[in-house]
Amino acid sequence: MKATVFLGGGRITSALVAGLRLAGHERPIVVHDRHSKKLQKLRRQHRVIVEEDLRRAVELADLLIVAVRPDSVRELLQEIREQHLRRRLTAVSLAAGIPLSKLQAALGLPVRWMRAMPSPVCRSGRGLTALTFGRGVSPAERATVRDLFASVGTVVEIPEKRFDAFTVTYSSSHGYHALAALVGAAEAIGLDRKTALVAAAHALADSIAGWRVSNLSLEKLLKEAATPGGIATAVMAALDKAGYRRIVKTGLCAGIRRARKNAER
Ligand SMILES: NC(=O)c1ccc[n+]([C@@H]2O[C@H](COP(=O)([O-])OP(=O)(O)OC[C@H]3O[C@@H](n4cnc5c(N)ncnc54)[C@H](OP(=O)(O)O)[C@@H]3O)[C@@H](O)[C@H]2O)c1
Repeated sequence: MKATVFLGGGRITSALVAGLRLAGHERPIVVHDRHSKKLQKLRRQHRVIVEEDLRRAVELADLLIVAVRPDSVRELLQEIREQHLRRRLTAVSLAAGIPLSKLQAALGLPVRWMRAMPSPVCRSGRGLTALTFGRGVSPAERATVRDLFASVGTVVEIPEKRFDAFTVTYSSSHGYHALAALVGAAEAIGLDRKTALVAAAHALADSIAGWRVSNLSLEKLLKEAATPGGIATAVMAALDKAGYRRIVKTGLCAGIRRARKNAER
């Protein structure tokens, strides 16, 4: 049996496997993790094959997906290195910030590396994944990985030098964070929580869904939604004056610094 093998059975693996199952992905999926409880849960929920032994998990892989946290990657790859892999293997790292050069250096020539940046939204099949390919990855290997992620959402290919910028921009946490901030502010001015949640979720989600299906530019839609001299105009002007755009940029820059730290691990 040759399978898609996930090393790390945490949050993103769980979301990806759920999305793959939703898409009818029928290839065998193997998950390895050091926590057998997590493995059993994945087995029950998503019919994955679990493998507690790292060596055996890697042996089963024709596609290896590294899904441990960035600070665990070095140790994991060291353990794999000790297996003295001889056969060619395609590997995809989901680890934020860790460059292809480090991954390639860790395991040597038999492994052809790619990086992917999905989000847990892939659980619903409506995600987005950025891909970047290392040297020596064949067109067939690229197509296999592209197809895998395309089954859980949209795929974009970007050069590796833009990967950190993509990673900090494309996070579902932005939506949840903006929602939490808007709900909190709405409650502070007198809305009950339930109504605040409904109103804030519609304000954020419906406007973006509308922008997606319209042919109108963001600038046009912003003008349409805010009558000159009106309430929305006053709210946005006050937000901008208070540094809203600057603050968002500050947040993204903190993410870039964290990604660079990951690269040093
Ligand atoms: N979560 C997201 O939204 C998201 C999105 C895109 C990319 N990513 C990337 O995906 C990776 C995983 O993120 P996550 O949020 O899924 O992390 P997570 O929930 O912490 O899952 C990682 C799992 O791997 C296990 N693990 C670590 N080292 C191991 C080893 N040597 N052998 C076996 N198991 C090991 C961890 O166990 P311990 O807890 O004991 O370490 C944990 O169960 C990260 O590199 C992250 O940058 C995450």
